[in-house]
Amino acid sequence: MAKENTVKSKLTPNLHPKLLVTKYMGSKKAILDFVASELIKLTKPGDIIVDLMAGTHTIGYAMKNRCQMVANDIQRYSRVIGETLLNYNPEPRFEGVLLDTFRRFYITNARHLADIFSHGLRREQGMLSKDADTKYNWMEYREFCESYPYYLRETPALGWPEEFSLLFGHRRVEAYKTLNKLEPYSLFSLYFANSYIGVQQAAEIDSIRCAIDKLCDLWLPQRDELKHIDSYRLRCLLISALIGVINKINPGPGHWAAYQHVSDHNLKYMKGQRRQSVWDIFIDRVREFENNLLKNPSDKGPHIVMTEDYVNFMEEVHEYIRQARVVYLDPPYSQGHYSRFYHLIETLVLYDYPEIAFAGRYRVNRHQSPFAHKEKVASAIGKVCEIAREGNAWLVSSYSRGGVIADDKAFRKILEEYYPAKNITVKKLLSVHSKLGQANRMQTEEYLFKCKP
Ligand SMILES: C[S@@+](CC[C@H](N)C(=O)[O-])C[C@H]1O[C@@H](n2cnc3c(N)ncnc32)[C@H](O)[C@@H]1O
Repeated sequence: MAKENTVKSKLTPNLHPKLLVTKYMGSKKAILDFVASELIKLTKPGDIIVDLMAGTHTIGYAMKNRCQMVANDIQRYSRVIGETLLNYNPEPRFEGVLLDTFRRFYITNARHLADIFSHGLRREQGMLSKDADTKYNWMEYREFCESYPYYLRETPALGWPEEFSLLFGHRRVEAYKTLNKLEPYSLFSLYFANSYIGVQQAAEIDSIRCAIDKLCDLWLPQRDELKHIDSYRLRCLLISALIGVINKINPGPGHWAAYQHVSDHNLKYMKGQRRQSVWDIFIDRVREFENNLLKNPSDKGPHIVMTEDYVNFMEEVHEYIRQARVVYLDPPYSQGHYSRFYHLIETLVLYDYPEIAFAGRYRVNRHQSPFAHKEKVASAIGKVCEIAREGNAWLVSSYSRGGVIADDKAFRKILEEYYPAKNITVKKLLSVHSKLGQANRMQTEEYLFKCKP
């Protein structure tokens, strides 16, 4: 066997720009310097980097000043985050007439929802009010949450007036699904209130989502004097900010695979999360993202951001891959599917009133990644190698010990089917994984493989 070409690395302090939209499993944020410093060594200014599975675009945001990014991910929210982080220039800022008009659209939808969902909203107000802590115990708040109606609920929602329960019925939601953009926007109120978010929060999310479409798809394109505003990417910024809000108010550990049930132990925390104002956090997030983007502009764009399965993507951007200096692969390394963990923000972006299933209320027909399957992962990596080695690009891949592929030796073995052993090197870094949700923080080893063209 060829001699191992391995280097142990130390994490250097923050050297590269970061902008976190949401916590993300496998995000390279915590080990950004480990990856980015290597990419810098391999590239010259102006080179192309192809990021096959960009997730929250941590790599693109760090590299967009140096290289042109050609980025992709199968999840739609990733494209929204990518257009924001890589391509949006926040000039003019989201203020003045833009904010005033947006607020008007928001208020109209919110008033409408306040009327329709008044039963739920009023009961929640009582449960979350200051004196509620002495009036209701944790079991009563839990009962309120667990008995709340939602679309496709299998057991009857007891204790609610019939006209309220009927709002969540199949035929009514079908109408929303068929008549795209029917108002008032109500998806989160009908699907997720009292699961991952509160009732008032669901109404605020729906109303902000409505205002985003109305401002960016309808109002702005009709204003000749505002033609200079990039309404598509402003839309991406605003949806990214809303993703940031949903991440902040989530009582869970940074994903939406399951929601927390109220208990004696978490009552105070749950109520604290549910009392937060979606609108206020939204405005904060927009400001925070704009300020960050102004500090990290890029003259290497426009960067390409796509949403495809990686094989289709590689075929579509074949010419870029032939010219690229680096093809970067950061695949899922665990058996959990991103389409399950992040279904809520996928639905926020698509806003398509999907069919849902299971206790977590996941979208049905979710993408199942071959990288999460033991028997499929080797050939999935093989496809990347086959296309990447046709050009002159380095193939750089991140992976973690203890994933679907057990360790660096097993990963290297797959790469050796496509690249000569002497052309493959691996850097390793000891790091701590938060394991999103599991109490123990686990020490692991991060790998960075480089395959020479
Ligand atoms: C480890 S994460 C990438 C994290 C990213 N580098 C970051 O820092 O945020 C893996 C990504 O692979 C994407 N993915 C999984 N299967 C895919 C496929 N078949 N095609 C494209 N993307 C895929 C997931 O949606 C997920 O965002």
